Amino acid sequence: MRIVFLGPPGAGKGTQAVEIVEKLGIPHVATGDMLRASIKNETPLGMEAKKYMDQGLLVPDEVTIRITGERISQPDCANGFLLDGFPRTLAQAEALDKLLADMGIQLDAVINLQVPEAVLIPRLTGRRVCRNCGASFHMVFNPPASDGVCDRCEGELYQRSDDNEETAVNRLSVYNTQTAPLIAYYQEQGVLKNIDGEQEIHQVLVSIGKALGKNWA
Ligand code: AP5
Ligand code: MG
Ligand code: ZN
Repeated sequence: MRIVFLGPPGAGKGTQAVEIVEKLGIPHVATGDMLRASIKNETPLGMEAKKYMDQGLLVPDEVTIRITGERISQPDCANGFLLDGFPRTLAQAEALDKLLADMGIQLDAVINLQVPEAVLIPRLTGRRVCRNCGASFHMVFNPPASDGVCDRCEGELYQRSDDNEETAVNRLSVYNTQTAPLIAYYQEQGVLKNIDGEQEIHQVLVSIGKALGKNWA
C-alpha cells in the first residue's frame, strides 16, 4: 500500500503512522524525522534545514523532494510506504506524481486528518516525542505510563524545539497557505479520504482502517 498522510501540524499524523506501518508492514517515511536526524548528525543539509524549521517555515522544495525521492526509491519501499509530512506544497505533490509515474506506481490513498485549529496548538505545546522510536505522547491527552519514558521502547522523551507556541502558530499559517491546497489536488485525483482527527486516538485508527478497507476495531 502507498499512502500519504495529510493534515496540519498536530493533527496526529505521526501518532497514527507509527501504529499503521506496523500493521501494514511498510516503512514510515517522515520527512520531518529525516530532517531532524540530519540536524542531530550535524550534516550540511541538517544545518541548512534547521534555519527554516526553527522558524516554522518549510524547508526548500528541492531539498525535501530529493531526500524523500531517494528514500522511497530504496528496496524496502518497493511494496509500499507511508509518507508522513510529504508532500506539503503543490510543487512537491507534482514532483511526487512524476516520480511515481516513472516508477510505474500510484498512490492508493491520501488520508486527510481533519482537526479544528483551536485544538492543534495545545496538542503541539504539550507533545513529547521518543528520541529512539519517534512515538508521540502528550502530557495531558496521551501521557506515557512513566514520566519521560516511551511506552513502546523505553526510550527518552523530549520536547521538539519547534513545539513552542510561537513556532506552532507559524507552522499553522504555513500549512493554511502552502499545504491546504493539496486537499483539492488529491480530491480531484479521487484518492482523498477525509478522517475526523478530533476523535480519541484509537478511534482515529479505526476510522483510517475503515478508509483503507481494514477492520482495526
Ligand atoms: P513535521 O515533523 O512533519 O511536523 P508537522 O507537520 O508540523 O507535524 P507534527 O509532527 O507537528 O504533527 P503530527 O500530525 O505528526 O502530530 P502528532 O501525531 O505528533 O515537520 C517539521 C518541520 O520540518 C516543518 O515545519 C518544516 O520546516 C520541515 N518539513 C518537514 N517536511 C517538510 C516538507 N515536505 N517540505 C518542507 N519542509 C518540511 O500529534 C501531536 C500531539 O497531539 C501529540 O502530543 C499527540 O500525543 C497528540 N494527539 C495525537 N492524536 C490525538 C488525538 N486523537 N487526541 C488527542 N491528542 C492527540
Ligand atoms: Mg509528525
Ligand atoms: Zn520509543
